Amino acid sequence: MERLAYDIVIVGGGAAGLRGAIAAAETSRALRIAIVSKVYPMRSHTVSAEGGTAAVLRDYDSFDSHGFDTVKGSDFLADQDVVEFFVRRAPGEVIQMEHWGCPWSREPDGRVAVRAFGGMSVKRTAFAADKVGFHMLHTLFQTSLKYENIERFDEWFVTQILAEGGKVAGVAALELRSGTIHAIAAKAVILSTGGAGRVYEFTTNGAIKTGDGMALAYRAGAPLKDMEFLQFHPTCLPGTGILITEAARGEGGYLVNNKGERFLKKYVPEKMELGPRDILSRSIIQEIREGRGFDGPYGHYVGLDLRHLGEEVIDRKLPMVRELSEEYAGIDPVHELIPVRPGQHYIMGGVHTDITGSTGMAGLYAAGEAACVSINGANRLGSNSLSECLVFGAEAGRSAAAYALTQGPVGSNPVTALAKAEETRIFDGLLKREGGESLADVRREMQRAMEEHVGIYRSAEALEKALSLLRELRKRFDRVGVRDKDPFFNTELTATLELDFMLDLAEVIANAALLRKESRGAHSRTDYPKRDDANFLAHSMAFRTATGPRYETKPVTITKWPPAARVY
Ligand code: FUM
Repeated sequence: MERLAYDIVIVGGGAAGLRGAIAAAETSRALRIAIVSKVYPMRSHTVSAEGGTAAVLRDYDSFDSHGFDTVKGSDFLADQDVVEFFVRRAPGEVIQMEHWGCPWSREPDGRVAVRAFGGMSVKRTAFAADKVGFHMLHTLFQTSLKYENIERFDEWFVTQILAEGGKVAGVAALELRSGTIHAIAAKAVILSTGGAGRVYEFTTNGAIKTGDGMALAYRAGAPLKDMEFLQFHPTCLPGTGILITEAARGEGGYLVNNKGERFLKKYVPEKMELGPRDILSRSIIQEIREGRGFDGPYGHYVGLDLRHLGEEVIDRKLPMVRELSEEYAGIDPVHELIPVRPGQHYIMGGVHTDITGSTGMAGLYAAGEAACVSINGANRLGSNSLSECLVFGAEAGRSAAAYALTQGPVGSNPVTALAKAEETRIFDGLLKREGGESLADVRREMQRAMEEHVGIYRSAEALEKALSLLRELRKRFDRVGVRDKDPFFNTELTATLELDFMLDLAEVIANAALLRKESRGAHSRTDYPKRDDANFLAHSMAFRTATGPRYETKPVTITKWPPAARVY
């Protein structure tokens, strides 16, 4: 087995991973950094982020305003020290992106343009039309190429974090092209693999978002935090789940029911279409349940009306919305309503980290959607996540670099023996298994169970049902045989490894949701409809045990915004 050795291994090549790599590379040119990604970095899910990235960039704005909006959006579950740090760092990151060549949209006077976004009290979302993730990812990727101490392993799938004595020693990775397992020794590992949307059936997330980094950390002994909090984006195309960006509403679009009414006046009268996502998604479901939705081939939906914006604005500021609507819904938003309904979009929870990106396990860091540094609490505000990837990607990169510089050489590190065991597990175990169960069936049933029972509305009864289905699916997974025995680009094998990860995460999510007997942010319990600060103003922390997740709680850090009623 080939053994590679680096100071820092970054798992995932999206915005957080690339930003982390650049920050680590800048900390010391002597550090050798590897980015290991299961897809070519430009195919990371960051590429499909659309609407913008939030930062205080104007005199009319303030850190306190961005901070308070974020904390209120989080339903007071965000750690306020982390939020304060975040809002102060975000503007510098957006300006840094400008200096690296990000083609932001412009105001007439040449400044980086900002637009309105949900839950934000002023315009503070910088954008590049509605292809923000695409442009940011290009900018970060091309910048990363300047650093000779960053190397890449594209289309390598990390299957395990290798650790000894509770300390990170490297990773085992499957090179997809050759179908061989490699041991990569490392002093520090940063997980930046994005979210886990594919645990659900109807999601904006690409097929690659299978929660790998979360499952890797969980299996290595690091806790997952606040996993019960899933974000459902209000406006997704029925059928495909493709995101219709919140920027469409930021630029003035309306949501209407089948009577042509802007129904949000009943639910979020002050904010209307710019209310936070959790409330808007519930409002849409409510309208549909009360018979005021439209019927279509993919179920009920409401309408997103952009017609009054006019063709020029749509083409200049929302060209992808028009393209997606035409391509995937067969309608032109210049003349017709766009059919939309809520779909899973983001997970507020993730690998627990402190403000530096450290997970608490020596040498293990996480950033971006894979992590829960805790700025999003129970509900993230749109456009905070790209900024989070920049701020905390950079922070994790610097922290991992500082840690790696204090460690001895990787020479004596035991990764080869550890990776051999992983090779045996995959090639002698999984690949040779001849079970009668179908991978696709188990995956579909997991996604359906999560969609139906751990969705926008939850109850003890539904969550218990989900858990019992998941237990059954875990047993069936052990009988899933990989029919393709070929080592080269064996996508069936990779999908099986991903499903194994997702089943772990689904169990953690459903259990955490069952234990949180209150409604807060995106976690809405029909049997506990009120927020309960006396008992649940705390993070949930899930630890892996042989019999399933064990949960602890962790206090929320409050600095200047005491919990209050969340009214919009
Ligand atoms: O609607 C959007 O463009 C999504 C943005 C986000 O999730 O931050």
